[in-house]
Amino acid sequence: MHCSNYYYIETQSKLAKLLVENSCADKVFFANSGAEANEGAIKLARIYFKKKGIADKFEIITLENSFHGRTLATLAATGQEKYQKPFSPLTPSFLRVPINDLKALERAINKTTCAVMIEPIQGESGVNPTTVEYMKGVREICDKNGLLLIFDEVQCGIGRTGKLFGYQHFGVEPDIFTLAKALGGGFPIGALCAKDFVAKAFEPGDHGSTFGGNPLACAAGLAVMDAIFSEKLVENSEKMGVYFVDKLSQLKGKYGFITEIRGKGLMIGIELSIKKAAEIKKKCFEKGYLVGAVGDNIIRMLPPLIVTTADIDSLIKAFDDIFSEIE
Ligand SMILES: Cc1ncc(COP(=O)(O)O)c(C=O)c1O
Repeated sequence: MHCSNYYYIETQSKLAKLLVENSCADKVFFANSGAEANEGAIKLARIYFKKKGIADKFEIITLENSFHGRTLATLAATGQEKYQKPFSPLTPSFLRVPINDLKALERAINKTTCAVMIEPIQGESGVNPTTVEYMKGVREICDKNGLLLIFDEVQCGIGRTGKLFGYQHFGVEPDIFTLAKALGGGFPIGALCAKDFVAKAFEPGDHGSTFGGNPLACAAGLAVMDAIFSEKLVENSEKMGVYFVDKLSQLKGKYGFITEIRGKGLMIGIELSIKKAAEIKKKCFEKGYLVGAVGDNIIRMLPPLIVTTADIDSLIKAFDDIFSEIE
């Protein structure tokens, strides 16, 4: 027992230490998924104010078209009706505003608001990045109004965007951020990362998880972080992202129905003026490439962080063939 407990604590604290040393967070709580990490973030924001003796601060402002998970609270935080409708009534006290609109955010704040929760780059809804000006403005608005700022980095974290964490593109730091997906390299793990002043609100017994931070998941996380650093995958994500967008822009010049290429690093969206995203996705699949279709007209791509220029060239060739058939 002593031995296994020791291993439990050791793998967990090693991974937590790595995350803390490489981010703005001081403390980490491990969960089993992205939604669970986000639930933890929501709970932490609320308990922070309760412990300060401010009972009536509980509302969280999120963005339209956001995606924060499929549990009841994270569904309510999510800004997409299609996921929410079948499960109404929604958990109360989440309010949504449009992306990159500081005035709308300011208007939405009321005396019950406790936090703003944002994906630095919206993934699931088709790769919609926030702007630097917006993120700086959101930080200022949160500071001015005494609100916590939460970044959901479940999809954009761990090298995906060409930085280790998405927020590093914007010159602002969140008070709380969440991770999952890439952190386990395919094995389930989530992480709730927070600055000390807010993390302190969770005292023993306030929040917990049977499997969160188990040695196997943390060993997977440690192996991932080791590969991320030793194989310079963040740098590769940045470099290959630039290469990929450049090649896609050439295709945009050739095919008039490509209206926008957007994203950061290896989180890339192609917007089309034609409703053919599903057809293109299917044709890519037949040629051995996995791409996502968002709605009728957006193609979302999150290639592996080890992707090479040769891999990108062959996907571009596949796109070229598929697009020329469509025209
Ligand atoms: C930004 C974001 N947050 C949260 C989640 C939910 O994560 P999980 O599926 O691990 O619960 C996702 C999943 O796609 C996501 O993209």
